[in-house]
Amino acid sequence: MAELQKKPVKIMETILRDAHQSLIATRMSTEQMLPIVDKMDKVGYHAVECWGGATFDASLRFLHEDPWERLRKFRDGFKNTKLQMLFRGQNILGYRPYADDVVEYFVQKSVANGIDIIRIFDCMNDLRNLKTAVSAANKEHAHAQVALSYTLGDAYTLEYWTSMARQIEQMGADSICIKDMAGLLLPYKATDLVKALKETVKIPIELHTHYTSGVASMTYMKAVEAGVDIIDTAMSPFALGTSQPATEVMVETFKGTPYDTGLDQTLLAEIADYFRPIRDEALESGLLNPKNMGVNIKTLLYQVPGGMLSNLTSQLKEQHAEDKFYEVLEEVPRVRKDLGEPPLVTPSSQIVGTQAVFNVIMGERYKIATKETKDVLSGKYGATVKPFNPEVQKKCIGDAEVITCRPADLLDNELEKLESEMAQYKEQDEDVLSYALFPQVAMDFFKYRQAQKTGVDEKVADTKNGAYPV
Ligand code: CO
Repeated sequence: MAELQKKPVKIMETILRDAHQSLIATRMSTEQMLPIVDKMDKVGYHAVECWGGATFDASLRFLHEDPWERLRKFRDGFKNTKLQMLFRGQNILGYRPYADDVVEYFVQKSVANGIDIIRIFDCMNDLRNLKTAVSAANKEHAHAQVALSYTLGDAYTLEYWTSMARQIEQMGADSICIKDMAGLLLPYKATDLVKALKETVKIPIELHTHYTSGVASMTYMKAVEAGVDIIDTAMSPFALGTSQPATEVMVETFKGTPYDTGLDQTLLAEIADYFRPIRDEALESGLLNPKNMGVNIKTLLYQVPGGMLSNLTSQLKEQHAEDKFYEVLEEVPRVRKDLGEPPLVTPSSQIVGTQAVFNVIMGERYKIATKETKDVLSGKYGATVKPFNPEVQKKCIGDAEVITCRPADLLDNELEKLESEMAQYKEQDEDVLSYALFPQVAMDFFKYRQAQKTGVDEKVADTKNGAYPV
């Protein structure tokens, strides 16, 4: 038998971003991560995801840390490894669409502070919402990766995904990610999807999934056999459950095969030894909820991504309505359908999740519609694959106008106005971007930072125990 051609699969490590976002509500601090950076830099990862997603919000809001400072420290430490971030298209790292000038400036500053690869996605899979970020990444000579927000539903056919991939390649993306937030991609479906994408585009394909439904490592195996170039994994102490498959397990699985990663298992074991006590501590303090560690096959019905599961539990805890957990989970797909069946990924996951919580707690559906629900129904987040439920639309927004253009075309530049609002607290150019994304939270942080410096005992709002942002 002829020897198979070698095609080592590349590993993208998520422990510094998605893994702790999915398992411990993004609470790992810079201080906890820095001591292991040097060792991680020796592994030979394709890239380390360490920024973006919810890390930005969580560091400002809960950890009183400057996210830009964290990025610069990572850049100093990772001398040989590419740094990757997750970027929500026109929503940047926030929960609403921003004007183009803010998107462009954010990309510019992310790259200037050390990011190499920007994974850009849109929660509606509306490609018009990705254009500005992709062009900005191209302009800054960063690697622009565009993600397909993977989801299920009869509109989401192989033709849908390949047509999207073709447009993404034409748009100027350097690679494509299949972003399976909730662990919905089944092993044999992965074979079909990866094969179809490889036949359609020339740029590399990366696969990102979560262990939530228990199939993730099998899905990786089938995807790798079908030719996927990169897989996303997390070091074992923060793997499985709502996080990714374990790095060490995938490395071992492909050892001695044409897909051998070549990564050093002994070095990986040392890194795992470092993170294990952090995980044990999180279990002890309750930050790591054992509920998020098991196999939840119901996610295949509810399509709830890992991060959203832990947010829903903490939202319900706030409302002393933890007993409503499964009721809310069942309401989620119904709300999703009403809103045009979008993928569930930030911010659509929060929008749908919060609306589902309201619908259940109020005892009447859409008795209260959040501002974001109304905005989705007005087209302000972009086009959905299916039409909205007209009755729900009527109940929530009445006869208000519904837009059909690229939403950001209607937004005036915002930077100048934002600058003027926070000028007195500005200590670095990047501060205006923190403020743009989270005005109140950033302002509290600026005041805290100032107080730390001057020693003035200024009262700072205690956001440490606040509700998770929705
Ligand atoms: Co993820």
